[in-house]
Amino acid sequence: MSQSISREVKMLAEIAEMKRIYSVIEQTLNVNPACVAVTSGARGEGKTTVAAGLAAVAALHANKHVLAVDLNWYSPALHKMFGVDLTFDFDIYKRDNSIKEMIQPTGIQNLDILTARSDQSRSRQEINKYLLGKEIVKQARENYDFTVIDTSSIFPTNRRMMDPVNIARIADGVAMVVLTNETPRQLIKRARMFLDTAGVNVLGVVVNQWQNPMV
Ligand SMILES: Nc1ncnc2c1ncn2[C@@H]1O[C@H](COP(=O)(O)OP(=O)(O)OP(=O)(O)O)[C@@H](O)[C@H]1O
Ligand SMILES: [Mg+2]
Repeated sequence: MSQSISREVKMLAEIAEMKRIYSVIEQTLNVNPACVAVTSGARGEGKTTVAAGLAAVAALHANKHVLAVDLNWYSPALHKMFGVDLTFDFDIYKRDNSIKEMIQPTGIQNLDILTARSDQSRSRQEINKYLLGKEIVKQARENYDFTVIDTSSIFPTNRRMMDPVNIARIADGVAMVVLTNETPRQLIKRARMFLDTAGVNVLGVVVNQWQNPMV
């Protein structure tokens, strides 16, 4: 595990806006254990950055025992934020009926991670991703105060991904990240409509004003 990578996530936890977003989520949910999903309308809006930041704030400033879960199986990235390998493996999960062995420390106290599946992890049968997501969240709640789930964007839809709307339903609520001046308004509205129609508890919109210097 890279110390410098953990340091970057620790810096995210010091951003006042990140602390404010966490505090709104904590107060709005007002439950322990709590589970929040992070999603967005389009790709690359900052979900993984926000998920890692919220997890770090909860662990470092709110004294919570935290699990960060990557259910963006289509484009996993949370593990990179913490410099760990992809370790979710169907065979281990089926053998143990538990996520315990696949959970890793992040180098930040009180903050663990369950990564997305590794390339080697192949399900022989088509698995029911909704039931798997449900079971992962159930087990996370048993051992952690706060679970943050990084998900795929709602659009474009892809049958290989864990459906972010369903994951948001399993969680206690969802934070929707919107990259200002990038994401078309219509797409944000459609994404919000998908979440509302599914009965998801939308905790709020995280406005990401980051401007990519490379573009
Ligand atoms: N507020 C920010 N400050 C600095 N960099 C940012 C910010 N928001 C996003 N980025 C950068 O933009 C890129 C995409 O962010 P991130 O990976 O968090 O998005 P994502 O929504 O998780 O993407 P994906 O849809 O691929 O999962 C990353 O390189 C990240 O470092
Ligand atoms: Mg991501």
